Amino acid sequence: MVDFTLTDEQKDLRELAHDFAKKEIRPVAWEYDKDGHWPQEIIEKAWGLGLMNNHIPAEYGGPGIGCLDGCVIEEELSWGCSGIQTSVGCNGLATAPLILAGSEELKKEYLGRLTEAPLLASFCLTEPDAGSDVSGMKTRAVRRGDKYVITGSKCFITNGSHANYYTVYAKTDPDAGHRGISAFVVPRDAGVIVDKKEDKMGQRASNTATITFPDVEIPADHLIGEENKGFKLAMMTLDRTRPGVAAMAVGIARAAFEFACDYAKERVQFGVPIAMHQAIQFMIADMATEIEASRLLTWKSAVLLDQGERNTLLSSHAKRFAADTAMKVTTDAVQIYGGYGFIKDYPVEKLMRDAKIMQLYEGTAQIQRMVIARETLVPRRAEQLSSV
Ligand code: CAA
Repeated sequence: MVDFTLTDEQKDLRELAHDFAKKEIRPVAWEYDKDGHWPQEIIEKAWGLGLMNNHIPAEYGGPGIGCLDGCVIEEELSWGCSGIQTSVGCNGLATAPLILAGSEELKKEYLGRLTEAPLLASFCLTEPDAGSDVSGMKTRAVRRGDKYVITGSKCFITNGSHANYYTVYAKTDPDAGHRGISAFVVPRDAGVIVDKKEDKMGQRASNTATITFPDVEIPADHLIGEENKGFKLAMMTLDRTRPGVAAMAVGIARAAFEFACDYAKERVQFGVPIAMHQAIQFMIADMATEIEASRLLTWKSAVLLDQGERNTLLSSHAKRFAADTAMKVTTDAVQIYGGYGFIKDYPVEKLMRDAKIMQLYEGTAQIQRMVIARETLVPRRAEQLSSV
């Protein structure tokens, strides 16, 4: 039987996350957006309440909840502020490769760090010349005895300035294209340099930095999984985390939609609230349908994962559709506010700026369409994809 209802536990989780978003995030979100204030105290409170590190299994001290449960939390916190949720949720992206392929010792040490204290980790894939084209990366990892030496630079790294450690992708065989990439855990105190903090259009409360590895030495056992299997590990990681990004996009869209509905009922033009005009009603109706559809795709992509199925196609459907919806809904919310929508005293312009990144990070809207087209035209078999 297909069942679209949440369990009582999931409803409780949603209420907890919503309450947290309403009391702790919303009251400061627009203020923190202004100067890009780092939300350390919110991260600590979220950690204390068990709203962080959702997917870390219980044996390493985490709540070990499923992907759908995680999406329920991510939608609510993003309804509060998606920039703050990006900071709170980024450990999920950074630890996914470890959970998927890390040795028992690595998991104990590095997953344990995050569950024992409110620390952060970052996922280091993108480079200045290797964004969508992952295999174009130049960062090198060279084996020297019982160590690897990592040399290179990564950009657009979420939480980069504050991370305790980094999961880093580097070339171990530079002539082998995507089959020459490996993944590593690199502790910050191994000599990592935090360079530039970006001044961004939206999600300004999140931290985005350039991270440099100047011949950083790490123990050889900090390799995650097998040498030269890092590309697949990155793809499997993104399959797992894109549903969460889609859920965030739903949260942003829902926030804008609620503001627009309230405003449309209050704002009077031509003698009636603008909600009485069909032009506005049709915009509200489209927003409502697209948000519902985004959530359904998001949940489906998450449930597939929870059932142990491959979700590559659904994860891209969800991420692409929900991100495009967030952009459209927030733009339409600004439209419904009219000139006021363009002014910072009103809430929706921030949401429009925040929505833009949903079409960019964790794979652009175009990359999602590439994945969808490939998976539709030439679907890969599960065994081609699963070994790392
Ligand atoms: N799972 C497992 N394996 C997969 C896979 C998947 N989902 N997708 C592809 N593979 C495997 C293929 O089977 C193939 O395997 P073989 O070596 O056995 O042949 C291999 O990976 C290469 O696949 P492709 O030929 O499809 O690779 P490609 O070079 O054409 O790239 C891509 C495919 C989809 C474009 C990929 O590069 C991609 O997703 N790019 C976007 C990267 C991205 O999302 N970056 C965001 C960074 S993280 C971030 O934004 C967070 C932040 O902190 C800001």
